[in-house]
Amino acid sequence: MTDFTMQKGDDGVAVITWDVPGKSMNVLSMEAAAALNGLIDDALGDDAVKGIVITSGKPDFAAGMDLNALAGMKDAGGAQGVFDGVMALHRLLRKIERAGMDPKTLKGGKPIAAALPGTALGIGLELPLATHRIFAANNPKARIGLPEIMVGIFPGAGGTTRLARKLGAMAAAPTLLEGKLYDPARAKANGLVDEVVDDPVAAAKEWVLKASNADLVKPWDQKGYKMPGGTPFHPAGFMTFLGAAAMVHGKTMGVYPAAKALLSAVYEGALVPFDTALKIEARWFTNVLMNPSSGNMIRSLFINKGALEKGANRPDVPDQTVRKVGILGAGMMGAGIAYVSALAGIEVVLIDSAQEAADRGKAHSEGLLDKGIARKKVTEEKKAEVLARITATTDYGALEGCDLIVEAVFEDPKVKAEVTARAETVIPEDAIFATNTSTLPISDLAKASQRPEQFIGIHFFSPVDKMALVEIIRGKQTGERAVAKALDFVRQIRKTPIVVNDARFFYANRCIIPYINEGVRMVAEGVNPTLIENAARMVGMPLGPLQLIDETSIDLGVKIAKATKAAMGDAYPDSSVDEVIFSLADQGRMGRKAKAGFYAYDEAGKRDGLWSGLGQRFPRADEQPELTEVQQRLMFIQALEAVRALEQGVLTDIREGDVGAILGWGFAPWTGGPFGWLDILGAERAVALADHLAETHGERFAPPALLREMAEKGESFYGRFGTRAKKAA
Ligand code: NAI
Repeated sequence: MTDFTMQKGDDGVAVITWDVPGKSMNVLSMEAAAALNGLIDDALGDDAVKGIVITSGKPDFAAGMDLNALAGMKDAGGAQGVFDGVMALHRLLRKIERAGMDPKTLKGGKPIAAALPGTALGIGLELPLATHRIFAANNPKARIGLPEIMVGIFPGAGGTTRLARKLGAMAAAPTLLEGKLYDPARAKANGLVDEVVDDPVAAAKEWVLKASNADLVKPWDQKGYKMPGGTPFHPAGFMTFLGAAAMVHGKTMGVYPAAKALLSAVYEGALVPFDTALKIEARWFTNVLMNPSSGNMIRSLFINKGALEKGANRPDVPDQTVRKVGILGAGMMGAGIAYVSALAGIEVVLIDSAQEAADRGKAHSEGLLDKGIARKKVTEEKKAEVLARITATTDYGALEGCDLIVEAVFEDPKVKAEVTARAETVIPEDAIFATNTSTLPISDLAKASQRPEQFIGIHFFSPVDKMALVEIIRGKQTGERAVAKALDFVRQIRKTPIVVNDARFFYANRCIIPYINEGVRMVAEGVNPTLIENAARMVGMPLGPLQLIDETSIDLGVKIAKATKAAMGDAYPDSSVDEVIFSLADQGRMGRKAKAGFYAYDEAGKRDGLWSGLGQRFPRADEQPELTEVQQRLMFIQALEAVRALEQGVLTDIREGDVGAILGWGFAPWTGGPFGWLDILGAERAVALADHLAETHGERFAPPALLREMAEKGESFYGRFGTRAKKAA
């Protein structure tokens, strides 16, 4: 069995079917591309074949390039290997596009159409774009687009050049630069596919048999072709490209090599003939692939994220699919957890101490579903179906038959202990009990349970419907079945899990709090707040530390500071931080919700620049630090904490550390995560920089012993810990 097979019909149509054996989705390997090349040669050379249809033997067309193959190309042949591989793909797709026609007369080609039964992503759309007509099945679940930019690369098999020439730079931008995906109807409206039909193979066959010579010639192969919207030196095109460069830089702050390279490929490609443009695209693609950022992004955001979602760290325990979940506490978190659970088809009992509060929690789902209806993403039937799954009540008796409980009541050990005991009198003996606590040790909360081995932490992030990460926390006594249950639940609600061990603030909060504190500490030192915020954004953090604390609220910061101080006593290192946040809290500046915090806000609650009053209480120092120094402080304070979490066994797998950092708190995604970033720097350089920071700013930057040892041995994190990190002992 091979990935592509061809059947020549009596009607003169050769149907090439893509069906990778043993996989649920087609992805393209270089060997398969070579096989397709052979089939195309055969069909073009066979007089009995009048036209060709390329389709899939699976419900979907293809998910894209095999990213492991891409990595292999780089490992085996370096830049030249990547370039040669990409050029081979260009030759294949160009052969399909020219379809044997005479280059001068543009006659004599054989019509080739693509028939897409479902999803077509990446090369799964680039290949169709090289054919003469694309028929997509009327399948609203299908996703069509070029998502490469989301994992740090860009469409490098002609997709960039073809789409820009087909639609113009401006119209192609959302697809190329933002990686937007469309259902077939929208894909057609946006010019990505030509027709949406019930039976794409039949329609494609019919089309190839009647297509004329003119139907086969792409606009860019015709005399007098002009790029829609204009090339860079055309007045309208000039404005487009100027605007695009500014927009891309504004959004990426220049830290994502792929966006910049993509724009360069389109700009430079627009100035030369099509085949030269493909070569330029291949050069830029190679450039991006050789940048360590793209490798790290692919590894974390595609390969490892996928592996964790598929249960890479799931204990070997039979299926633990959740059927009925009981949620205790219908506040902000409980209401969100109820929504995502009901949406996933799970029956939900949502409990609060007053019926009103429980109803309010359910109304949260109604609000989100209504928004979905307004955006045409949800139907009235779907809304009714999801809401019918949620029972909002004060009656603990309704928890009968729940196989999972998620507790999200107030962050108070006494309240939590009480509801744990109460629920356990009702729920089945084998039910798993999870707490959504953000700060309390799981092992302590488990003391309230009769069955501590069935007690676990499932820590969601706010807002629950948007945040992709869920942190699963093993308490000291948590058993394997509880871990499997939590992982199966997270899979059902389609989020990404990491599994960590119990320690103060678990993993994500443990790293993000020091990031916020470092920003606030700099305010106390007199660093210009604008410098702090811009430095963070310019190193790729989605939010500066001051904006972040405004979003999460200053009073939460005060609460955490007080609790941490109480727990640590004299060793507490953050007094200068407290001075700043306590002072803001005293003035009622509680952050965005109060429309006042480190930032000023307008009436509508929109940010209106940093608050000018900040400088009065904490005056700016005459001498300001260099941008890079501020950036290094903000990055190292997070990354070193991640290393400590690994060293102390809170993290047991660096893949989880990297994926969790990006999805949990937006750690500069271009790095592939804190361990990826340290590997880019190299342990030796990281130690030198951290030592310098420790000397100038304090012991919190002192490199952990693990990092120092790695520097001495010349090791990298991914080299030392491989795919499955062992406990760093
Ligand atoms: P919230 O204050 O919005 O909701 C708590 C709800 O629990 C309230 O509706 C309250 O009436 C209810 N409740 C209190 N005692 C109860 C009892 N005995 N029986 C039934 N219901 C009771 O709080 P929020 O923000 O939803 O937090 C809940 C938990 O989630 C806390 O443990 C918190 O630390 C944790 N968490 C919060 C995050 C956040 O961003 N707010 C993020 C992750 C975890």
